[in-house]
Amino acid sequence: MMNSHLQQAVPAEWNVPSQLKQAMQYSLMAGGKRLRPLLVIAAAEALGGSREAALPVACAVEMVHTYSLIHDDLPAMDDDDFRRGKPTNHKVFGEAMAILAGDALLTHAFYHIVQASKVHGVPAEAALAIVEELSRFAGPAGMVGGQVADMEGEQGLTSLEQLQYIHEHKTGDLIVFCLKAGGRIAAASPEQLSALETFGRAIGLAFQIQDDILDLVGDESKLGKKTQSDLKQQKVTYPYFIGLDPSRAEVDRLTKLAKEAVSNDFIPYPERLMGIASYLMNRDH
Ligand code: IPE
Ligand code: IPE
Ligand code: MG
Ligand code: MG
Ligand code: MG
Repeated sequence: MMNSHLQQAVPAEWNVPSQLKQAMQYSLMAGGKRLRPLLVIAAAEALGGSREAALPVACAVEMVHTYSLIHDDLPAMDDDDFRRGKPTNHKVFGEAMAILAGDALLTHAFYHIVQASKVHGVPAEAALAIVEELSRFAGPAGMVGGQVADMEGEQGLTSLEQLQYIHEHKTGDLIVFCLKAGGRIAAASPEQLSALETFGRAIGLAFQIQDDILDLVGDESKLGKKTQSDLKQQKVTYPYFIGLDPSRAEVDRLTKLAKEAVSNDFIPYPERLMGIASYLMNRDH
């Protein structure tokens, strides 16, 4: 369902320079777990909200995530050659087009959020809150700030505390956005939003710790990207600071904490969120 919606979100007949359209589609349709869109939908459904109404925001967040990956892989950043099992965007389309495809996906995401209101009747006030939160969680105080801190991080200089800041922002914030946006689509109460946020914070950090673990011990063919990228770039990571087994224990602890946050009377249908949390803890890609 997500894949066909993403396909339609960048239609072949769209009057856009053909190389740009191809570069956008290439990364968007290269695969990927679609974790973030699924979280938007699962959060909406956990409160009895509609899946259809959640779809435009789900598409939007996958566009923002995909843009962040295209830019993250650029030579000036992590300088990676493989992503989602294929050569990275700049390897195929060149650096300039990869930068612009990222810009285009980021901008086009906001168009889609508005469609939740125009097409699916999500109240304008909820759509406005979602736009505000996407710009906050993906922007300078969120994901982009986290990417800057990650870039400035250095083995021997950066502390574990600073690494927590990096992980919270470069990865956690967009995941928190997904949970809150799904909640807002389902007209969440303040208590429900706060439970969803706690869930998102915990799985967001667990997700990036697991990403760090897989960069060390994962299987490239399953991951669809090269391992040892963090070592090559001398990045600080959880395994670097606390070791592999304590990192795994931390993923376990955070997953339990996340599940507890949505096991209460005011989240009526938490099963799918719980299932995603369990899946992430054991993921190998
Ligand atoms: C990778 O995200 C980048 C991080 C924030 C760790 P994912 O592991 O969700 O990548 P895809 O979407 O499945 O390719
Ligand atoms: C990526 O973190 C975070 C964002 C793209 C915002 P990483 O650099 O650890 O992600 P991978 O390992 O390349 O997927
Ligand atoms: Mg990076
Ligand atoms: Mg990277
Ligand atoms: Mg990584």
